[in-house]
Amino acid sequence: MSIRFRLLASFSTVFAVAVVLFTLISYLLSVAITGDMKSVSRFYKIHYSLHPLTDEEETIFLDLKYMAKQDSEQLTDEALLAQYDQQLKMVQAGLFVRRDDELIYASPSIGEPEMRSALPAYDAANLSIRSTLNVGNRFFSYAKFDFPYPDGSMGSLYVMKERSPFAELVRTLLPILIAVLLAVIVLTGLLLYRYLTRTMIRPLEVLKRSAEQIKEGDLQFELKPHSRDEIGQLSQTFEEMRRRLNESIQLQLQYEENRKSLISGISHDLKTPITTIKGYVEGIRDGVADSPAKLDKYVGTIYAKVNEMGRLVDELLLYSKLDLRREPYSFERIDLAAFARDAAEEAALELEGRGVTVDLNVMANAPIPVLADRSKLKRALDNLIQNSAKFMSKPEKRIEVRVAIDGRHALLEVTDNGPGIPAESLPYIFERFYRGDASRNSGTGGSGLGLAIAKQIAEGHRGTIKANSIAGEGTRMTIRLPLADNGNEDTE
Ligand SMILES: Nc1ncnc2c1ncn2[C@@H]1O[C@H](COP(=O)(O)OP(=O)(O)OP(=O)(O)O)[C@@H](O)[C@H]1O
Ligand SMILES: [Mg+2]
Repeated sequence: MSIRFRLLASFSTVFAVAVVLFTLISYLLSVAITGDMKSVSRFYKIHYSLHPLTDEEETIFLDLKYMAKQDSEQLTDEALLAQYDQQLKMVQAGLFVRRDDELIYASPSIGEPEMRSALPAYDAANLSIRSTLNVGNRFFSYAKFDFPYPDGSMGSLYVMKERSPFAELVRTLLPILIAVLLAVIVLTGLLLYRYLTRTMIRPLEVLKRSAEQIKEGDLQFELKPHSRDEIGQLSQTFEEMRRRLNESIQLQLQYEENRKSLISGISHDLKTPITTIKGYVEGIRDGVADSPAKLDKYVGTIYAKVNEMGRLVDELLLYSKLDLRREPYSFERIDLAAFARDAAEEAALELEGRGVTVDLNVMANAPIPVLADRSKLKRALDNLIQNSAKFMSKPEKRIEVRVAIDGRHALLEVTDNGPGIPAESLPYIFERFYRGDASRNSGTGGSGLGLAIAKQIAEGHRGTIKANSIAGEGTRMTIRLPLADNGNEDTE
């Protein structure tokens, strides 16, 4: 059974029960208030007995009553009576005057033959001057006054107004009442149904559609919860699930992409030296290297290429070990300033011959403690210095190694006055195999793994690496490492 159907069924039940209850309650209420059903109609009569006439009719009645008291002879003047009757007719009432047993004036607008016998008897004391009477099916309320005519005959005057009888009133009003009642119940039911479908069924349908989308493999959408209720929470959880699933699939795709590009990078970088070696070996075999000098040159080139390949394979091995977290780190507490000084001195000696000066700049008086794996950090720093030296294009070649403290971190920076890195390349230089010069055969050589390895090492130290560069002016590479706490000397 669908929720929609269940809702409809429960509304219909509530509707039926409401109708039955309403009938019962209204019956019981009227009995409880009035004692029995008939007294409701008695109430209706009493109300009109107390107020049979409206104010306007009452004024005319009082006029006529005054006349009856002062000069009752006038109440035989038919023309005068007709005039009063006319006034009463305008307000839907009528006049009756009786002398002894004879009706000397009967309002033609009400005119009822049986009225004469229905009119109450003469009552000289005028005990009851307002009341109601039934003539056939018709119901009247009236005010009356009894008076003596000058000749002693009994006179009565009645200002009479027709009212709808109670039974008829109920008969005309009941269908309207019941219709209104049913309309209210149906309308309330419809509104509730609409409200519930909007807040429950529609969100569920959206959820169902989303689940189908996921089943079809489409995860590129967003499910927005429309409320905070249980269904809203369900949508939220569902959206969270979609997001995580999407993330893990994207990650999987990226791994796949990485694997492909790694293989293509390796094959490309190995193929170039192999082609060269093959060419030279063929040269020797075919006797092209016919003199000892030529042979020496050929063998020298082959040896250099084999070295290049060996270095590339070493770098690849290191990178992949770092990437797979298979390369163990042996952390120790070191003074970064002393460490940088040693590295800078070594580099200065090595690069002296190429006309490159390496300066050291330590921005602290005390040692700068960091937890580091000496050999790996040295490898990262060397990669930075080698890059600065390798890409240097100016006649005056300067490299600065700088150490500083920044809050709770230590900074290890290598700055050069080289060609700089174009802004469009900056985001990619830490990716493996990325090299600024698209041609891999240029003089600078290299596999494009240097910065990728430096980044792995910086992150292995729970640090970061970033590059700042202005094309034409120089480059600054910054490794940021957390300072070792004084109390925390544990190695990891
Ligand atoms: N100091 C620098 N000045 C100018 N360009 C730089 C500098 N350092 C890095 N680059 C650019 O970033 C690219 C990536 O550097 P990375 O060290 O990863 O590779 P590589 O030096 O080309 O090769 P490898 O280090 O493996 O021998 C370089 O090819 C170069 O274009
Ligand atoms: Mg490099």
